[in-house]
Order: sequence, then structure tokens, then C-alpha cells
Amino acid sequence: MPRKMLITGATGLVGGYFLARMLRNTDADIVVIARPKPKHTAEERINNILRYFGISSCQPRMKVLAGDITEPRCGLSDLTVNSISDGLTDIFHAAADLSFDKSRTETLVETNIKGTENVLQLCPSDTRLFYVSTAYIAGSTHGDFSESDVDCGQSFNNDYEKTKCLAEKMVRDYFRGSDELLTIMRPSIITGEYTSGKTFQFAGFYTVLRVLYSLANSKLPKTIYLPYIPECTKNFIPVDCLSDMIEEIFTTQKLWGTTYNLVNESPVSQFEMQTLFSEVLGLNIRNDDPSLALRPHNAALLESIDWYTAYLQNEPSFQCDNRNKLASSKVQMQFDRKYLETILAFCVQKRWRHSHAVC
Ligand SMILES: NC(=O)c1ccc[n+]([C@@H]2O[C@H](COP(=O)([O-])OP(=O)(O)OC[C@H]3O[C@@H](n4cnc5c(N)ncnc54)[C@H](OP(=O)(O)O)[C@@H]3O)[C@@H](O)[C@H]2O)c1
Repeated sequence: MPRKMLITGATGLVGGYFLARMLRNTDADIVVIARPKPKHTAEERINNILRYFGISSCQPRMKVLAGDITEPRCGLSDLTVNSISDGLTDIFHAAADLSFDKSRTETLVETNIKGTENVLQLCPSDTRLFYVSTAYIAGSTHGDFSESDVDCGQSFNNDYEKTKCLAEKMVRDYFRGSDELLTIMRPSIITGEYTSGKTFQFAGFYTVLRVLYSLANSKLPKTIYLPYIPECTKNFIPVDCLSDMIEEIFTTQKLWGTTYNLVNESPVSQFEMQTLFSEVLGLNIRNDDPSLALRPHNAALLESIDWYTAYLQNEPSFQCDNRNKLASSKVQMQFDRKYLETILAFCVQKRWRHSHAVC
């Protein structure tokens, strides 16, 4: 019997790559919940994603439903919920709000916690949940953060981390006693494909990259201050490497029922990052001269990426025993000069926008 799966977040990066792979590589029946936008139906938005991947929009085994996970039953009628639930084997829940904006606490709670609860309402008792969490539920943990760690009394750098941690705890509670039905995947910072740099999401780390790129290409002084700690690492995972791991987990029964820190085994240190920025962008980024921050352009830069400062100063050491058992985890995914040049070239070519009209 083919699997019947429900996917959330398919207009986004993780869910979009997952949907494309499920259509290409499985015979599953697929139900997608996506939000309509004022000028585009949910179906048009999903078709745009399929176009990005070069996949035909004529997919008889896929059904797109207009829904919003912040609404009870995701905004779907009882009739629709009954028809989704009938024979549903799996839910892949990737929809989330990824904002670091301090004014968005309410939306973060509504989407990441309440939204996950609403998705669980669609879940018949024997349906498996593949839940996309984040490695950064580790918050401000110093040192190791294992795949079984969840709430270790850590504090959080922002409400995104906090709401994702609370949501992960909630799904664990929901499945307590039937743990084999719950698989949790925790990516680190997702970046463009490893050999091409291709992506359609230019948020998060890309906003920092863009600010530094703009500075490098301006007439402003190239020596700036950033309060980084040289030995602090950053963990980047290219989206194609991540999608290989997610697909392997989702399609291999013996890998279900556990948690994976889907991170890069070789994180890059801030020292190495600043060296790369110096080689590739010609910037001299110093951490030993705070007086530079008094210069207007340096002050403006720091203000524009103030949410990122905490990430310059601490990153947990993500333990990945479960992840290391995946065949797809063995590939090269080093964040080196070649990779930085590749992702930058892609961003510049696309002008830091999703030009494939995913709306
Ligand atoms: N990107 C990263 O670096 C990263 C790192 C670690 C973990 N993660 C996790 O990976 C998952 C996917 O993230 P992503 O990078 O793919 O993010 P993304 O590109 O921003 O996609 C988020 C998706 O969630 C959907 N969504 C948000 N609110 C919704 C709502 N109320 N109802 C229905 N759908 C809603 C969005 O739909 P719209 O298109 O309608 O907005 C979009 O499809 C998230 O759970 C995130 O926490 C991401």
C-alpha cells in the first residue's frame, strides 16, 4: 500500500525540497496544506514551487488544500479533515514562523506551538509524525547538546528558539507511550545547495551575509568591529545535504522513532569565518577594537544584525550519534572558501530574491 502523507510548510525551503523529493522518488499520495496569499491561491503557490524544481504541476496523487495552521483544524472543514485522516500514514510538519523579531512573540507562539497542536488534531492515533524542529532549541547551552536533550534548563537567545523548544516538548508529550510514531529532525542553519549554492530562502544568515557583502562593495571603510569569539563555531547545513538525510530517514522504517541533530559534523569557527570574509570580501573584521563600533556605518551594521550577536559568541556542540548512522551523512559538506564563493555568487545572480516567483 502506498503511504498517504500530509505536508505542511511546502511553500518554504525544507517543505518545498521534501515535497519535490516525495513526488520524484515515491509513489505516496500527498496532501499539502498551504496558505493562500491575496493574489495567489494555495494551489498556484505550490505549483510555483514545483516549477522551481522542474516538476509538472499536473500531479494526480497530490491534493493542495488552502489552510492555516494557526486556526483550529488548520482552518479545514470537518468533512475535509475526515477525508485527510482516512488512511493517513504520515505527517511531515515543517511549517513554522522563523522570525527573530522581538515584536512577533504572539505570532511565534500561535504558529510554532498552537499551530503544531492544530496539526496534531489532524493526526489519527496510528499516524506517524515527522516533526521538523531545530538544533537551536539548545538555546544558550554551553558545551554538548545531544539528540536526547530537550529541556536542560537552558535559556534562549530569542522567542523563535523558545517556541520551537516548547513545541518539541509538546509533540514528545503527545506521543509518550507510542514513541515509535514520532521522528524529530533538528537542522542547524540551512544554506544553499553544496555545489551550486541554489536556494530560494534568503533569510537568517543570508541577511548577515548581505549586509557584509553590501559593505564590501561600498566606499565605506572595510575594517569593522564585530563582537565575535574566535573559537565559537557556526553550524551550516546545505539544503541538499539536509534533504538527503530527511529523505533517507523518511523512507527507511528502521530509522523512525528517534531524534536527529541534522547538523554539519564539521562546524566552522568564527576565526575561520572571519578569515573567509577577509579573503572573499576583502573585509577586515576585528573583535578587539570596540571603538570602531562608534563609527556611524559600523554602528548601523551592528544594529541591523543585533539579533545575530548572540550567535557570534556561543554555539553548543551538537552531538549527532543518530545522524552519524545515516548513509547520507557521510558526504562532504565543509563550509570553506569555495562554498562561500558559491553561495555568494548565487545570491548576487538572484539579487538576493526568489526570482522564480514563489509568492
Ligand atoms: N531555515 C533554517 O535555517 C532552519 C534551521 C533549523 C530549523 N528549521 C526549521 O525547518 C522548518 C522549515 O523552515 P524553512 O527554512 O523551510 O522556513 P521557511 O522557508 O520560512 O518556510 C516556512 C513554511 O511555514 C509555512 N507557514 C508559516 N506559517 C504558517 C501558517 N500559519 N499556516 C500554514 N503554513 C505556515 C510557510 O508558509 P508561507 O509561505 O505561507 O509563509 C512556509 O511554507 C521550520 O520548522 C524551522 O523551524 C529551519
